[in-house]
Amino acid sequence: MNHPECPIAVVMAAGKSTRMKSQTPKVLHTVAGRSVIDYVLQAGIDGCGIDEFVVVVGHKADRVQSYLTERWGNAVRFALQDPQLGTGHAVQQAEALLKDFDGDVLTLAGDTPLVTADILRRLYTAHRKSGAAATMLTARMDDPAMYGRVIRAKDGSVLRIVEARDAGEEERKVDEINASIYCFRAPLLFEALRKVRPVNNQGEYYLTDVISVLVEKGERVEAVTSPDPNVVMGVNTRAEMARAAALIRTSVLEKLMDSGVTVMDPANTYIDITVEIGQDTIIYPGTVIEGETKIGARCVLGPHSYIRDSEFADDVSFMMSRAWQARVDKGVSVGPFANLRPEAIVGADSIIGSFVELKKSVLGQETHVCHLTYIGDAFVGDRANVGGGTITCNFDGERKHQTFIGPDSFIGSNNTLVAPVSIGEGAFTAAGSTITENVPTDALGVARERQVNKEGWAAARRKAKRKQP
Ligand code: UD1
Ligand code: MG
Repeated sequence: MNHPECPIAVVMAAGKSTRMKSQTPKVLHTVAGRSVIDYVLQAGIDGCGIDEFVVVVGHKADRVQSYLTERWGNAVRFALQDPQLGTGHAVQQAEALLKDFDGDVLTLAGDTPLVTADILRRLYTAHRKSGAAATMLTARMDDPAMYGRVIRAKDGSVLRIVEARDAGEEERKVDEINASIYCFRAPLLFEALRKVRPVNNQGEYYLTDVISVLVEKGERVEAVTSPDPNVVMGVNTRAEMARAAALIRTSVLEKLMDSGVTVMDPANTYIDITVEIGQDTIIYPGTVIEGETKIGARCVLGPHSYIRDSEFADDVSFMMSRAWQARVDKGVSVGPFANLRPEAIVGADSIIGSFVELKKSVLGQETHVCHLTYIGDAFVGDRANVGGGTITCNFDGERKHQTFIGPDSFIGSNNTLVAPVSIGEGAFTAAGSTITENVPTDALGVARERQVNKEGWAAARRKAKRKQP
């Protein structure tokens, strides 16, 4: 059993996400590179050292459960809430898993991606210090909209929470809101939950009612008010999701700039929280960098580039291009208008020019593929030059085949390399060739019709035309 000094977290993630109008449960939506619920769990770990989560699942439980198991393993256990009868009912489902636990429960809503480790630490520290039965997190908002309102007595003590839907006119004017993040002494929480009744506008068992149950019982309820209202923002709609993403992106960009990255126009730069970028890299506007991407130092990215799940070494220049699951080594220049597809690997100091597409191919160092080319399922050696308009014909309609282009070789312009085929080290192919057979080392492969010049043909044609009546 967990040491009472270390709280267990209960995370509510069973709701129907009705307002999202989505086939995906809202806690699994991705915001700036991480799913909504991952932010919540990470803040619990970083802020309070939580190593045991009970996640309440219900709506699309299988999806939420398999996602979290894969991501967090044994740190997460699940309580099923079916049907979903409200936040109080949700937390009640965790009781069976916490039967003998008499420590503190940190109760979190799965839909607050901006929650920080710092605010959770403050909440838990205050809770431990005061020894209250419950400590809730609140914030003051200019527009409290649909948040639950915190109703306090004249002496300032918390009396209850009233949901916006159930609030009277005066109560709706209250600007202090409930963040849906609380610390409870576990036994008192579950005892109070048994007294909650679904008497409200939605006919649900509200977790918020636990506060008034405890107050009426004479227990001590405290509140910690977040100085920043954004960190408690709950995302219930697509518009709120977009606002949360914008706030996270802003903080990602600020951290990057603090670490020595130049972001020319932060309002037009979109970088996931999962991305790492080295010092003195310059990012032009319109650049989107997503997923597990690592960028080295002194790179120049954009304008208008999309980079996902890729690895760039130092000194890469990448202009108006796309990279997806690609690796680009030191000093490479890419673009404009290049498309690096999965498993493209470009060796150091190579040049990938305009309208070049690479897929599942390894390119050596100082290799030039400068214009209008498709390289798929290929190996290209060091210092090779692939002429403009070259295509590796890797697909015969049924299967994919490999092309090998040796080091120091020179592929003439507008070549069609019909795979499987191999061009030897130092070999040349003539412009306009359709190469269907291997070209040996140091040889020249010519595979095109010899040109025929018909002497006087054009003059004869003009003469014939003039004779016509
Ligand atoms: C809740 C609070 C409100 C607070 C706001 C802060 C209640 C009744 N209201 O409102 O006071 O200001 O959060 O963001 O608690 N969930 C379940 N099972 C259910 C219902 C919900 O697990 O039966 C989960 C949801 O998946 C979600 C969380 O609980 O992650 C909160 O539910 P939500 O419907 O978003 O509550 P709000 O209306 O935002
Ligand atoms: Mg909510």
